[in-house]
Amino acid sequence: MEFKTLNNGVKIPMLGLGVFRINDPTECEEAVYQAIKAGYRFIDTATAYQNEAAVGRGIKRSGIDRKELFISTKLWITDTNYEGAKRGLNNSLRRLGLDYIDLYTIHQPYNDYYGAWRAMEELYEAGKIRALGVDNFRQDRLADFIEFNKIKPQVNLLETHPFYQRQAETDFLKSENILQIAWSPFAAGQFGIFTDQTLIKIAKNHGKSVGQVVLRWLMQRGIAAIPKTSHISRMKENLDIFDFELNNDEMNSIGELEQGKTVAGNRETAKEVREFFDAFSQLNTDE
Ligand SMILES: NC(=O)c1ccc[n+]([C@@H]2O[C@H](COP(=O)([O-])OP(=O)(O)OC[C@H]3O[C@@H](n4cnc5c(N)ncnc54)[C@H](OP(=O)(O)O)[C@@H]3O)[C@@H](O)[C@H]2O)c1
Repeated sequence: MEFKTLNNGVKIPMLGLGVFRINDPTECEEAVYQAIKAGYRFIDTATAYQNEAAVGRGIKRSGIDRKELFISTKLWITDTNYEGAKRGLNNSLRRLGLDYIDLYTIHQPYNDYYGAWRAMEELYEAGKIRALGVDNFRQDRLADFIEFNKIKPQVNLLETHPFYQRQAETDFLKSENILQIAWSPFAAGQFGIFTDQTLIKIAKNHGKSVGQVVLRWLMQRGIAAIPKTSHISRMKENLDIFDFELNNDEMNSIGELEQGKTVAGNRETAKEVREFFDAFSQLNTDE
């Protein structure tokens, strides 16, 4: 496993397991338990995934020393304000069965995210959070956020895969010493990623799989990744990426796959933000 030291000195594994859409509690608990057994130390959940309690049970069952794990969860949009962030973190910790979180992020850049951040800064200073971050903050919004807050985010989670590479944002985040974490590193299995001929050819060069090549490409760009799978064989496969290296030609060929294609889309108008907020504000996050 490779690690990165965040801008506050905290160490984070460069590869973790994402558990979005592992909705069945038994399946989620088992996935987390098996992942830790296979060597994963970083698990990425969110209040909105409605599986924090199952993640907590998987962690407990693993029996591993808490200090060895790096657990991240996220504040949901309905709680994105000062009081909501305090309530949101407390509820997440209770469901996870933990007394601190390694990484707490603002899941979407909507609502009163400045108010939420002030509460998160206080929780960080009180030792409840080891690293602070945001998700889905594009460059101009993040630039403003960095400038007008006391604590600079340690990470930004962004959709990043061969068909949506975001090189300019990667350069910006590097210049600010903020770690980019790729969510949907396999484009959530869409756009024919696992049958892409360029990726298959590179995978054959190394006796590796397409998934391993994609993760390796992210690592070599200095981007952490949290692929999701509930299959144990794929968990092991996705972890086995630290014994080979892509050469410049291979990196450039993957660079040419850029199509600006996103699985989640970007909301550009007030109407789109309102519709998104209304669609997802009814989530019952109390498992
Ligand atoms: N912060 C945010 O706003 C945000 C948004 C979306 C996602 N995320 C995080 O990012 C994580 C990953 O994103 P994602 O779940 O959207 O998609 P993803 O990791 O890009 O892709 C998951 C898909 O790839 C398949 N897969 C995984 N490993 C494979 C392998 N080695 N070979 C072939 N297929 C493989 C999985 O199938 P099986 O499960 O059947 O193996 C699943 O269908 C999420 O779980 C979540 O933690 C964050």
